[in-house]
Amino acid sequence: MARLDGKVAIVTGAARGMGEATARLLVEQGASVVLADVLDEPGRKVAEELGDKALFVHLDVTDKTQWQAAVEASADFGTLNVLVNNAAILLHKTIVDTTEEDFMAVTRVNQLGVFLGMQSVFETMKAGGGGSIINISSIDGFQSKNSLLAYSASKWAVRGMTKTAALEMGKYNIRVNSVHPGGVYTDMHGKAFITREQADASYTHQALPRVGMPREVAAVTAFLAGDEASFSTGSEFMADGGWHAGSIFDTLPQL
Ligand SMILES: NC(=O)c1ccc[n+]([C@@H]2O[C@H](COP(=O)([O-])OP(=O)(O)OC[C@H]3O[C@@H](n4cnc5c(N)ncnc54)[C@H](O)[C@@H]3O)[C@@H](O)[C@H]2O)c1
Repeated sequence: MARLDGKVAIVTGAARGMGEATARLLVEQGASVVLADVLDEPGRKVAEELGDKALFVHLDVTDKTQWQAAVEASADFGTLNVLVNNAAILLHKTIVDTTEEDFMAVTRVNQLGVFLGMQSVFETMKAGGGGSIINISSIDGFQSKNSLLAYSASKWAVRGMTKTAALEMGKYNIRVNSVHPGGVYTDMHGKAFITREQADASYTHQALPRVGMPREVAAVTAFLAGDEASFSTGSEFMADGGWHAGSIFDTLPQL
């Protein structure tokens, strides 16, 4: 029996990057997956490649009506019991250059989208006897970097909302956790413009001195989706190459 047999999942932002890797891994491990994204063409292509255990729905995570349609679509596979809130957008602007429109655009997708997702799946998961919600935050949900005001605020919010939802939904056997990737080689990370080796060069100070790959984060999400994680909720799971351990200084003795 595969680890995720019987699981029915929605993965947002599944047309590419970490969402795509997550959808692929969940299907490999036995789950049926609704791939949701605003990028219809690539999203449909991934779902087609995955076969009978996958379908694509157009979902803008900021739209409550579209969320309802996505949850309804998942019923084709059985009772929904996994949600991966992965979709997000990135913005690099200083505090001075960030407009109200910029701030709200990031907040709507990265924060409102996660809230609407959790709210939209609750009744279905409750009726089905439980489930697992995995919210993709970031290392920037613990700290930040210059130019990440709106993005970092949204990722701290995801971490906070995860706690509230875990506390409210736990009695219905719905677990809610956040995953915190470090730098991962995707379009959001500039994959179209820099090679993997160039990306690695940004992480020489990190315990694992390289950029991460989408599947390495998907593996943590897949663990949380499954019943092996049955006593984990309201928690933060790192997949950051050791970013949080601290920094390696070339000027100090090392192995
Ligand atoms: N790549 C990194 O270095 C990194 C680091 C930490 C956290 N993260 C987080 O990991 C998650 C995945 O990021 P990624 O690197 O794969 O990004 P990506 O840009 O490659 O993919 C994001 C996906 O989300 C979709 N999306 C954007 N707005 C949407 C909306 N309104 N509704 C539905 N879908 C929408 C995009 O179309 C895209 O397919 C995000 O939550 C991101 O913040 C990424």
